[in-house]
Amino acid sequence: MAQTTWWRLLAFFVLMVTKAQTTENTSRCKMYNDSDRKVLSVLEPLTNQNFTVTTKNGEEEYTYVFQVCGDADGVKDAGVVQKSKGNTVIVIGNYSVTEAFKGSDWVLLIYQGGEKYHEHCSKGSRKAMIMISCDRTKAAGPLSVVLEDRERNTDCFYLFEMDSSVVCPLIESKLSTGSILLIVCFSCLAVYLIGGFLYQRLIVGAKGFEQFPNYGFWSEIGNLSADGCDFVCRSRGSREEPPTYRGVSTEPLEEPEERDDHLLPM
Ligand SMILES: *[C@@H]1O[C@H](CO)[C@@H](O)[C@H](O)[C@H]1NC(C)=O
Ligand SMILES: *[C@@H]1O[C@H](CO)[C@@H](O)[C@H](O)[C@H]1NC(C)=O
Ligand SMILES: *[C@@H]1O[C@H](CO)[C@@H](O)[C@H](O)[C@H]1NC(C)=O
Ligand SMILES: *[C@@H]1O[C@H](CO)[C@@H](O)[C@H](O)[C@H]1NC(C)=O
Repeated sequence: MAQTTWWRLLAFFVLMVTKAQTTENTSRCKMYNDSDRKVLSVLEPLTNQNFTVTTKNGEEEYTYVFQVCGDADGVKDAGVVQKSKGNTVIVIGNYSVTEAFKGSDWVLLIYQGGEKYHEHCSKGSRKAMIMISCDRTKAAGPLSVVLEDRERNTDCFYLFEMDSSVVCPLIESKLSTGSILLIVCFSCLAVYLIGGFLYQRLIVGAKGFEQFPNYGFWSEIGNLSADGCDFVCRSRGSREEPPTYRGVSTEPLEEPEERDDHLLPM
Protein backbone atom coordinates (compact mmCIF):
# COMPACT_ATOMS: atom_id res chain seq x y z
CA MET A 1 0.00 0.00 0.00
CA ALA A 2 2.83 2.38 0.84
CA GLN A 3 4.24 1.64 -2.59
CA THR A 4 1.13 2.91 -4.42
CA THR A 5 1.09 6.03 -2.25
CA TRP A 6 4.62 6.84 -3.37
CA TRP A 7 3.72 6.34 -7.01
CA ARG A 8 0.73 8.63 -6.62
CA LEU A 9 2.90 11.31 -5.04
CA LEU A 10 5.43 11.03 -7.85
CA ALA A 11 2.70 11.24 -10.48
CA PHE A 12 1.31 14.32 -8.72
CA PHE A 13 4.66 16.10 -8.84
CA VAL A 14 5.21 15.18 -12.47
CA LEU A 15 1.75 16.51 -13.33
CA MET A 16 2.53 19.75 -11.53
CA VAL A 17 5.57 20.44 -13.69
CA THR A 18 4.22 19.38 -17.07
CA LYS A 19 1.54 21.78 -18.21
CA ALA A 20 -1.16 20.15 -20.29
CA GLN A 21 -1.76 21.93 -23.57
CA THR A 22 -5.06 21.70 -25.36
CA THR A 23 -5.75 22.55 -28.97
CA GLU A 24 -9.51 22.19 -28.71
CA ASN A 25 -10.53 25.56 -30.17
CA THR A 26 -7.49 26.62 -32.18
CA SER A 27 -8.01 23.47 -34.25
CA ARG A 28 -10.79 25.36 -36.03
CA CYS A 29 -8.08 27.28 -37.88
CA LYS A 30 -7.08 25.58 -41.12
CA MET A 31 -3.36 25.93 -41.58
CA TYR A 32 -1.74 26.97 -44.80
CA ASN A 33 1.18 24.82 -43.69
CA ASP A 34 0.26 22.22 -41.09
CA SER A 35 3.69 22.34 -39.48
CA ASP A 36 2.69 25.74 -38.01
CA ARG A 37 -0.16 24.26 -35.99
CA LYS A 38 1.86 23.81 -32.81
CA VAL A 39 2.41 27.59 -32.74
CA LEU A 40 -1.36 28.09 -32.47
CA SER A 41 -1.75 26.02 -29.33
CA VAL A 42 -0.32 28.85 -27.20
CA LEU A 43 -3.17 31.09 -28.40
CA GLU A 44 -5.83 28.70 -27.06
CA PRO A 45 -6.71 30.95 -24.07
CA LEU A 46 -7.52 33.80 -26.47
CA THR A 47 -10.18 31.87 -28.40
CA ASN A 48 -13.91 32.68 -28.19
CA GLN A 49 -13.39 36.40 -27.68
CA ASN A 50 -14.17 39.32 -29.99
CA PHE A 51 -11.34 41.85 -29.92
CA THR A 52 -12.43 45.18 -31.37
CA VAL A 53 -10.84 48.48 -32.30
CA THR A 54 -12.31 51.57 -33.94
CA THR A 55 -10.28 53.91 -36.13
CA LYS A 56 -11.20 57.35 -37.41
CA ASN A 57 -9.59 58.86 -40.44
CA GLY A 58 -11.36 62.10 -41.34
CA GLU A 59 -14.85 61.13 -42.41
CA GLU A 60 -14.09 57.41 -42.51
CA GLU A 61 -14.71 55.40 -39.38
CA TYR A 62 -14.06 51.70 -39.26
CA THR A 63 -14.46 49.09 -36.58
CA TYR A 64 -12.32 45.99 -36.83
CA VAL A 65 -13.21 42.76 -35.04
CA PHE A 66 -10.71 39.97 -34.54
CA GLN A 67 -11.05 36.44 -33.21
CA VAL A 68 -8.51 33.67 -32.78
CA CYS A 69 -9.77 30.78 -34.90
CA GLY A 70 -13.40 31.78 -34.54
CA ASP A 71 -16.09 33.74 -36.34
CA ALA A 72 -15.21 37.40 -35.77
CA ASP A 73 -18.36 39.32 -34.97
CA GLY A 74 -20.25 36.15 -35.83
CA VAL A 75 -19.28 36.25 -39.54
CA LYS A 76 -18.70 32.72 -40.77
CA ASP A 77 -15.04 31.81 -41.56
CA ALA A 78 -13.89 35.37 -40.86
CA GLY A 79 -10.95 35.84 -38.50
CA VAL A 80 -10.94 39.61 -39.00
CA VAL A 81 -13.79 41.79 -40.30
CA GLN A 82 -14.07 45.49 -41.00
CA LYS A 83 -17.35 47.26 -40.31
CA SER A 84 -18.00 50.75 -41.62
CA LYS A 85 -20.60 53.29 -40.58
CA GLY A 86 -23.29 52.04 -42.92
CA ASN A 87 -22.75 48.57 -41.36
CA THR A 88 -21.16 47.15 -44.49
CA VAL A 89 -19.07 44.20 -43.38
CA ILE A 90 -15.90 43.30 -45.25
CA VAL A 91 -14.01 40.10 -44.47
CA ILE A 92 -10.32 41.02 -44.13
CA GLY A 93 -9.01 37.55 -43.33
CA ASN A 94 -10.29 33.97 -43.39
CA TYR A 95 -9.16 31.64 -40.62
CA SER A 96 -9.44 28.75 -43.06
CA VAL A 97 -6.19 30.04 -44.57
CA THR A 98 -4.02 30.65 -41.50
CA GLU A 99 -0.30 31.05 -41.10
CA ALA A 100 1.42 31.40 -37.75
CA PHE A 101 4.98 32.19 -36.76
CA LYS A 102 6.47 32.27 -33.31
CA GLY A 103 9.48 34.04 -31.84
CA SER A 104 10.79 34.02 -28.31
CA ASP A 105 8.13 36.48 -27.07
CA TRP A 106 5.70 37.02 -29.93
CA VAL A 107 3.36 35.23 -32.31
CA LEU A 108 2.48 36.52 -35.76
CA LEU A 109 -0.89 35.31 -36.98
CA ILE A 110 -1.78 35.75 -40.65
CA TYR A 111 -5.25 35.24 -42.08
CA GLN A 112 -5.33 35.20 -45.87
CA GLY A 113 -8.21 34.85 -48.28
CA GLY A 114 -10.16 37.98 -47.36
CA GLU A 115 -12.55 39.76 -49.71
CA LYS A 116 -10.90 40.92 -52.96
CA TYR A 117 -10.10 44.61 -53.46
CA HIS A 118 -12.16 46.35 -56.14
CA GLU A 119 -9.41 48.63 -57.40
CA HIS A 120 -6.34 48.45 -55.24
CA CYS A 121 -3.63 45.82 -55.03
CA SER A 122 -4.24 44.30 -58.46
CA LYS A 123 -7.66 43.23 -57.17
CA GLY A 124 -6.00 40.71 -54.92
CA SER A 125 -7.41 39.26 -51.70
CA ARG A 126 -7.29 41.16 -48.44
CA LYS A 127 -5.02 39.79 -45.78
CA ALA A 128 -4.79 40.41 -42.02
CA MET A 129 -1.63 40.14 -39.96
CA ILE A 130 -1.94 40.22 -36.19
CA MET A 131 1.21 40.65 -34.16
CA ILE A 132 0.73 39.40 -30.60
CA SER A 133 3.53 40.42 -28.25
CA CYS A 134 4.39 39.37 -24.73
CA ASP A 135 3.15 41.51 -21.85
CA ARG A 136 3.01 39.63 -18.56
CA THR A 137 0.63 42.18 -17.02
CA LYS A 138 -2.16 41.62 -19.56
CA ALA A 139 -4.27 38.55 -20.24
CA ALA A 140 -5.19 40.13 -23.56
CA GLY A 141 -4.53 43.78 -24.23
CA PRO A 142 -6.55 46.03 -26.52
CA LEU A 143 -6.30 45.46 -30.25
CA SER A 144 -4.83 48.31 -32.28
CA VAL A 145 -4.41 49.02 -35.98
CA VAL A 146 -0.83 49.61 -37.09
CA LEU A 147 -1.46 50.21 -40.78
CA GLU A 148 -3.43 49.31 -43.83
CA ASP A 149 -1.11 49.07 -46.76
CA ARG A 150 -3.20 49.04 -49.91
CA GLU A 151 -1.13 51.29 -52.12
CA ARG A 152 1.07 48.41 -53.19
CA ASN A 153 0.70 46.50 -56.40
CA THR A 154 0.40 43.10 -54.77
CA ASP A 155 0.41 41.56 -51.32
CA CYS A 156 -1.49 44.28 -49.51
CA PHE A 157 -2.20 43.68 -45.86
CA TYR A 158 -3.76 45.07 -42.71
CA LEU A 159 -1.47 45.00 -39.71
CA PHE A 160 -2.80 44.81 -36.17
CA GLU A 161 -1.06 44.40 -32.86
CA MET A 162 -2.00 43.42 -29.34
CA ASP A 163 -0.28 42.41 -26.12
CA SER A 164 -0.91 39.23 -24.20
CA SER A 165 0.77 37.17 -21.54
CA VAL A 166 -0.01 33.90 -23.35
CA VAL A 167 2.86 34.36 -25.81
CA CYS A 168 5.41 35.06 -23.07
CA PRO A 169 8.14 32.48 -22.64
CA LEU A 170 7.24 30.05 -19.88
CA ILE A 171 9.35 30.54 -16.79
CA GLU A 172 9.12 26.83 -16.03
CA SER A 173 10.65 26.02 -19.39
CA LYS A 174 13.89 27.65 -18.24
CA LEU A 175 14.35 24.75 -15.82
CA SER A 176 16.18 21.90 -17.43
CA THR A 177 14.92 18.34 -17.11
CA GLY A 178 17.75 17.70 -14.67
CA SER A 179 16.70 20.41 -12.26
CA ILE A 180 13.05 19.33 -12.46
CA LEU A 181 14.11 15.80 -11.53
CA LEU A 182 16.18 17.20 -8.66
CA ILE A 183 13.21 19.20 -7.38
CA VAL A 184 11.00 16.11 -7.55
CA CYS A 185 13.62 14.05 -5.69
CA PHE A 186 14.03 16.64 -2.95
CA SER A 187 10.28 17.02 -2.54
CA CYS A 188 9.89 13.26 -2.22
CA LEU A 189 12.75 13.14 0.28
CA ALA A 190 11.18 15.90 2.34
CA VAL A 191 7.80 14.18 2.33
CA TYR A 192 9.49 10.90 3.27
CA LEU A 193 11.39 12.45 6.16
CA ILE A 194 8.53 14.49 7.57
CA GLY A 195 5.90 11.79 7.02
CA GLY A 196 8.17 9.09 8.42
CA PHE A 197 9.11 11.24 11.41
CA LEU A 198 5.49 11.91 12.27
CA TYR A 199 4.61 8.24 11.79
CA GLN A 200 7.41 7.05 14.05
CA ARG A 201 6.67 9.65 16.69
CA LEU A 202 2.88 9.64 16.78
CA ILE A 203 1.98 6.08 15.79
CA VAL A 204 4.95 3.97 16.78
CA GLY A 205 5.82 6.28 19.68
CA ALA A 206 9.55 6.35 19.07
CA LYS A 207 11.91 8.71 20.88
CA GLY A 208 15.21 10.34 20.03
CA PHE A 209 17.03 9.17 16.94
CA GLU A 210 14.57 6.34 16.48
CA GLN A 211 12.03 8.89 15.29
CA PHE A 212 13.82 8.96 11.95
CA PRO A 213 12.00 6.74 9.47
CA ASN A 214 13.67 3.35 8.95
CA TYR A 215 16.27 4.29 11.53
CA GLY A 216 17.72 0.78 11.71
CA PHE A 217 18.15 0.56 7.96
CA TRP A 218 19.77 3.98 7.59
CA SER A 219 22.12 3.55 10.52
CA GLU A 220 23.17 0.24 9.00
CA ILE A 221 23.82 2.03 5.69
CA GLY A 222 25.69 4.75 7.56
CA ASN A 223 27.89 2.21 9.34
CA LEU A 224 28.53 0.32 6.14
CA SER A 225 29.53 3.44 4.25
CA ALA A 226 31.68 4.63 7.12
CA ASP A 227 33.47 1.28 7.01
CA GLY A 228 33.74 1.63 3.25
CA CYS A 229 35.21 5.11 3.61
CA ASP A 230 37.58 3.87 6.22
CA PHE A 231 38.73 1.10 3.96
CA VAL A 232 39.07 3.29 0.87
CA CYS A 233 40.23 6.62 2.25
CA ARG A 234 42.61 5.80 5.06
CA SER A 235 46.11 5.74 3.74
CA ARG A 236 47.73 3.73 6.51
CA GLY A 237 46.20 0.52 7.84
CA SER A 238 42.94 0.36 9.80
CA ARG A 239 41.73 2.11 12.94
CA GLU A 240 42.89 -0.66 15.28
CA GLU A 241 46.50 -0.43 14.16
CA PRO A 242 48.32 2.07 16.37
CA PRO A 243 49.86 4.92 14.39
CA THR A 244 53.61 4.98 14.42
CA TYR A 245 53.69 8.30 16.20
CA ARG A 246 51.25 7.17 18.87
CA GLY A 247 53.72 7.61 21.67
CA VAL A 248 54.11 11.23 20.73
CA SER A 249 50.54 12.29 20.07
CA THR A 250 48.05 10.37 22.20
CA GLU A 251 49.75 9.02 25.31
CA PRO A 252 51.00 12.27 26.83
CA LEU A 253 47.48 13.66 26.64
CA GLU A 254 46.08 10.98 28.92
CA GLU A 255 48.88 10.88 31.44
CA PRO A 256 48.52 14.34 33.02
CA GLU A 257 44.93 13.46 33.82
CA GLU A 258 46.00 10.39 35.74
CA ARG A 259 48.56 12.39 37.64
CA ASP A 260 45.89 14.94 38.46
CA ASP A 261 43.71 12.21 39.92
CA HIS A 262 46.46 11.27 42.27
CA LEU A 263 46.93 14.86 43.22
CA LEU A 264 43.26 15.62 43.90
CA PRO A 265 42.82 14.17 47.38
CA MET A 266 45.67 16.30 48.74
C1 LIG B 1 -13.33 25.94 -26.34
O1 LIG B 1 -14.60 26.50 -26.65
C2 LIG B 1 -15.67 26.06 -25.84
C3 LIG B 1 -16.94 26.74 -26.31
O2 LIG B 1 -16.96 26.82 -27.70
C4 LIG B 1 -15.40 26.40 -24.39
O3 LIG B 1 -16.41 25.88 -23.55
C5 LIG B 1 -14.08 25.79 -23.97
O4 LIG B 1 -13.75 26.20 -22.64
C6 LIG B 1 -12.97 26.27 -24.91
N1 LIG B 1 -11.73 25.61 -24.54
C7 LIG B 1 -10.63 26.31 -24.17
C8 LIG B 1 -9.44 25.50 -23.81
O5 LIG B 1 -10.60 27.53 -24.14
C1 LIG C 1 5.83 23.83 -44.29
O1 LIG C 1 6.85 24.25 -43.38
C2 LIG C 1 7.96 23.39 -43.36
C3 LIG C 1 8.91 23.87 -42.26
O2 LIG C 1 8.87 25.24 -42.08
C4 LIG C 1 8.62 23.40 -44.74
O3 LIG C 1 9.74 22.52 -44.72
C5 LIG C 1 7.60 22.94 -45.78
O4 LIG C 1 8.18 23.04 -47.07
C6 LIG C 1 6.37 23.82 -45.73
N1 LIG C 1 5.35 23.29 -46.63
C7 LIG C 1 4.68 24.08 -47.48
C8 LIG C 1 3.64 23.40 -48.32
O5 LIG C 1 4.88 25.29 -47.58
C1 LIG D 1 -18.72 38.10 -31.01
O1 LIG D 1 -19.61 39.07 -31.59
C2 LIG D 1 -20.78 38.52 -32.22
C3 LIG D 1 -21.55 39.68 -32.82
O2 LIG D 1 -21.70 40.72 -31.91
C4 LIG D 1 -21.60 37.75 -31.22
O3 LIG D 1 -22.70 37.15 -31.88
C5 LIG D 1 -20.74 36.68 -30.60
O4 LIG D 1 -21.46 35.99 -29.60
C6 LIG D 1 -19.48 37.27 -29.99
N1 LIG D 1 -18.66 36.19 -29.50
C7 LIG D 1 -18.15 36.20 -28.26
C8 LIG D 1 -17.35 35.00 -27.87
O5 LIG D 1 -18.34 37.11 -27.48
C1 LIG E 1 -12.65 30.79 -46.31
O1 LIG E 1 -11.78 29.84 -46.93
C2 LIG E 1 -12.39 28.58 -47.18
C3 LIG E 1 -11.29 27.66 -47.72
O2 LIG E 1 -10.50 28.31 -48.66
C4 LIG E 1 -13.53 28.76 -48.15
O3 LIG E 1 -14.18 27.52 -48.38
C5 LIG E 1 -14.54 29.75 -47.55
O4 LIG E 1 -15.58 30.01 -48.48
C6 LIG E 1 -13.86 31.06 -47.20
N1 LIG E 1 -14.81 31.90 -46.48
C7 LIG E 1 -14.97 33.21 -46.75
C8 LIG E 1 -15.98 33.93 -45.91
O5 LIG E 1 -14.28 33.80 -47.59
